[in-house]
Amino acid sequence: MNVSRVAWRRKECALKKSDVVEELLDGRRRAPGASGTAFAPANIALCKYWGKRDDELNLPMTSSLSLSLGALGATTEIAPCDGPADRVWLNGEALSGESPFVRRLTAYLDLYRSGHGYDVHTVSTVPVAAGLASSASGFAALVLALNELYGWELDRKALSILARLGSGSASRSVFDGFVEWHAGARDDGMDSYAERLDVSWPELRLGLLALSSAEKPVGSRDAMKNTRDTGALYAAWPEKVAGDLVEIRGALRDKDVERLGRAAESNALTMHATMLSGWPPILYWLPESVQTLQAVWAARKEGVPVYCTMDAGPNVKLLFLDEDRSRVTERFEGLQLVETNRKGSA
Ligand code: DP6
Repeated sequence: MNVSRVAWRRKECALKKSDVVEELLDGRRRAPGASGTAFAPANIALCKYWGKRDDELNLPMTSSLSLSLGALGATTEIAPCDGPADRVWLNGEALSGESPFVRRLTAYLDLYRSGHGYDVHTVSTVPVAAGLASSASGFAALVLALNELYGWELDRKALSILARLGSGSASRSVFDGFVEWHAGARDDGMDSYAERLDVSWPELRLGLLALSSAEKPVGSRDAMKNTRDTGALYAAWPEKVAGDLVEIRGALRDKDVERLGRAAESNALTMHATMLSGWPPILYWLPESVQTLQAVWAARKEGVPVYCTMDAGPNVKLLFLDEDRSRVTERFEGLQLVETNRKGSA
């Protein structure tokens, strides 16, 4: 058998999202109730998910670890409607069926519907301008709301897997606090799910700096694919992540902000380096991002233990301890502190 035939057979046998849903809902399929409502927090990865081993199932190349953002997230209410088409409202505003957001949602809901449409109302407390991945809290809240609507009574592991099928980082948003998403090794992804870590660190602070709300030049989904497929530095990424995860887990255990900050900041900057090493190169940073990074490094030089992380966008998030709060806030104008310890409600 020649190579292209092998590739073709692999493709033909590859599992689809619907296979995974079938397996997880086995024996639980039933008619929907009147409606389901749920909240899920946004999350910031301290060790990033960047690159997939399976694009269809959103299976990651590596594990990742995040902090959920308390009451910042999405509350979603879903109900079956009479017509065949979905109707979607975001913060009270009806969205066009043609918008990329609604198309992605509709494709995801196709996995669950039996011929009818849904009315989906989502209210998001995530500041849009801060560049927080709304897909994470959005898909996690949607899955939790579907679980209510259909009365599946799935456990968190299964809900995390279903959320992953919508968006990889959503697998972590079905939990509060510090969360690790295990990469897993199976083709069906049944071992690729998130778990809440048994860590409480109320003194750790996370601050958001919204530097730009302009639309990104390229979405994170396409950017991570481009990096994996063309990035000269991507081969080094799995090993970098493995080391950072050890450091971050250790730092969380010992409540060591310097160790945590160093690993998280270095992890984020390395992720951006892998993007730059691809073709076409991808650079999300704006001049303000660079200025902020330099201000973080200057602050550390002057003895303020503050660290940063960045996702697929120009905005910067700061990590520090509550005891350094005033020293940090006076240096970084417009810093929005996140109450990661405060839970959101449905
Ligand atoms: C940089 O979860 O949005 O925020 O799985 O394609 O939906 P898809 O990607 P997505 O990517 C998030 C990338 C990141 C890092 C992270 O959250 O770990």
